[in-house]
Amino acid sequence: MAFNLAFLSSILIILSAFSPVITALSSNYYDKSCPNVEQIVSNAVKKAAANDRTVPAALLRMHFHDCFIRGCDASVLLNSKGSNQAEKDGPPNISLHAFYVIDNAKKQVEASCPGVVSCADILALAARDAVVQSGGPNWDVPKGRKDGRTSKATETRQLPAPTFNISQLQQSFSQRGLSLNDLVALSGGHTLGFSHCSSFQNRIHNFNATHDVDPSLQPSFAASLKNTCPINNRPKNAGATMDPSSTTFDNTYFKLILQGKSLFSSDQALLSLPKTKNLVTKFATSKEAFLDAFVNSMIKMSSITGGQEVRKDCRIVN
Ligand code: HEM
Repeated sequence: MAFNLAFLSSILIILSAFSPVITALSSNYYDKSCPNVEQIVSNAVKKAAANDRTVPAALLRMHFHDCFIRGCDASVLLNSKGSNQAEKDGPPNISLHAFYVIDNAKKQVEASCPGVVSCADILALAARDAVVQSGGPNWDVPKGRKDGRTSKATETRQLPAPTFNISQLQQSFSQRGLSLNDLVALSGGHTLGFSHCSSFQNRIHNFNATHDVDPSLQPSFAASLKNTCPINNRPKNAGATMDPSSTTFDNTYFKLILQGKSLFSSDQALLSLPKTKNLVTKFATSKEAFLDAFVNSMIKMSSITGGQEVRKDCRIVN
C-alpha cells in the first residue's frame, strides 16, 4: 500500500510537471480561508443598489465582458497604465460602470482575509448577487478563479456586437465553449438595464437599401425609439431601457422579442434559427424554464478561467 501511494504520487508529480495548470473551481473554496466573503460581497452590492438602481445591470454586464476576454480573470477591472490601454477603455466597455462596487467589496474582503480572494471571484459573486437582488434566481457560485495580468483595449473587439447575426453570435459563443442554448439563455440578461441609442441606431436609421427602419421592429415601438434617438441633435445619454421592468429579473425580454420589441439586431437574431426560436418561445412561456437555463449557463460562462494571481487592488496588477 505504502509503495502504491508513493508510486501514485510520483506519477502525479510527473504528470503535473507536464500538463497545463487546470484550475478547478469549487463552491466551498473560501470556506476556511475567508468564510465571510459571500456576505461581504452581497452587502456591498445591496448598499450600492439601494443608492443607484442601475448598479445590478452594470455588474451583470461587467462579469459577462470579463469572461469573454481572456476568461473570467478580472482583466476588465484593470486601469489603463502608461501606453497600455486596458479593456475598460475599449469602445464596448466605455458604458460599463459601477466599478466602485467591486473596489468597496474588495477593500472589505481584504480587511477580513488579506491576499486570499481574487477580484475575478468577487465580480462573479457580485453578478450573482445582482441577479438575486433583482428578484432573479439564486445559485452557488463556484470559486477559485485567479486574476489576470494582461488587459488590452484592442481585445474588446472580440466581444459580440449588437449588430451581429445568428451565425456571428453562434461563433462568438462556441469559441468560448458555449452553445446555442447558452446564447439564448444568457441573452436573457437583457431583462435588466439600459442601452444607449448608438447600440440600436442601425435598426432605426438607414437600416438597409430598401428600409429606413428594420421591418422586424414593431412599428409603434420603432417610432418611439426614433423619437428618443433622432438621427441628429440626440441628447448625450439618450437611450432606452432593455425592457419596461428593467430592474426586475424576469422573462419579459423573451416576450418582447416575439413582439418585435427587442432593442438589438442580436436580440432579434435569436428568432432566425428554428432551434433558437423554439428556445425564445419556451422561455417566453415559462419563466421557470428560463431561470433554470440561465443559472446553468451562468455557471458555465463564469467557469471560463484564465488568471494567475490574487490581486491586492482590483485596478492594478500585483
Ligand atoms: C449575445 C450577445 C450580446 C450582445 C451583442 C450584447 C450587447 C449589449 C449592448 C450593446 C448593450 C448596451 C450598451 C449600451 O448601449 O450602454 C448591452 C447591455 C447589457 N447587457 Fe448585453 N449583450 C450580449 C449578451 C449579454 C449577456 C450574456 C449578458 C449577461 C448575462 C448581458 C447583459 C447585459 C446587461 C445587464 C446590460 C445592461 C447594462 C446596463 O444597464 O448598464 N448581455 N448588451
